[in-house]
Amino acid sequence: MNTPLTILGIAGSLRQASFNRAALRAAQQLTPDGARLEIFDLVGIPPFNQDEDAHPPERVVEFKQRIRAADAILIVTPEYNYSIPGVLKNAIDWASRPYGDSAWDGKPVAVMGASIGPMGTSRAQYHLRQVFVFLNMYPLNRPEVMISNASQRFDEKGNLTDEDTKEHIRKLLVALVAWAKHHEVGRQAAAAGA
Ligand SMILES: Cc1cc2nc3c(=O)[nH]c(=O)nc-3n(C[C@H](O)[C@H](O)[C@H](O)COP(=O)(O)O)c2cc1C
Repeated sequence: MNTPLTILGIAGSLRQASFNRAALRAAQQLTPDGARLEIFDLVGIPPFNQDEDAHPPERVVEFKQRIRAADAILIVTPEYNYSIPGVLKNAIDWASRPYGDSAWDGKPVAVMGASIGPMGTSRAQYHLRQVFVFLNMYPLNRPEVMISNASQRFDEKGNLTDEDTKEHIRKLLVALVAWAKHHEVGRQAAAAGA
């Protein structure tokens, strides 16, 4: 039997009733056969301090291991002041260091996000895509999943109730799995010297 492909899901909010954490939980239920979505919670990642980047805190060591073990990454970002939240950027920075030991290098990645406003985190997502350039990650271009007016799409328990949004997330995950497989073939060919 083939080993399922592992996607590591990260939500950029620590809020208990976060729409983005809720969207990530929904994505877990919508992951296609042959893949599994694990969640890494950013609770416990301290503020980045470059004095410590060669000997990072235990939670950061664990974070980097989980990223490295994953075949693909799914980031679910809120939008804060037209950009990504500090909590998310902070975690990305930790896992990118020390210089030359980034856990993100060469990872396929997809992005989605939920906002209470009408733009559905689009501005934050494009900022995040800029960060992927230096990290040498491989972002999936489409589909884009921008969940606007989030308070109308989840119930009070944090369940995603909007069928169109579920369908968008399902399609994103199918595309991410195909994208990760595409990169895996490339990595294997490179390792074999093809
Ligand atoms: C500091 C801060 C800045 C925000 N800036 C934006 C913004 O630029 N665009 C937007 O659509 N929503 C903005 N919001 C509202 C968020 O969309 C809303 O709080 C959302 O629920 C945050 O995601 P979460 O539910 O996953 O915590 C902001 C919220 C906070 C706390």
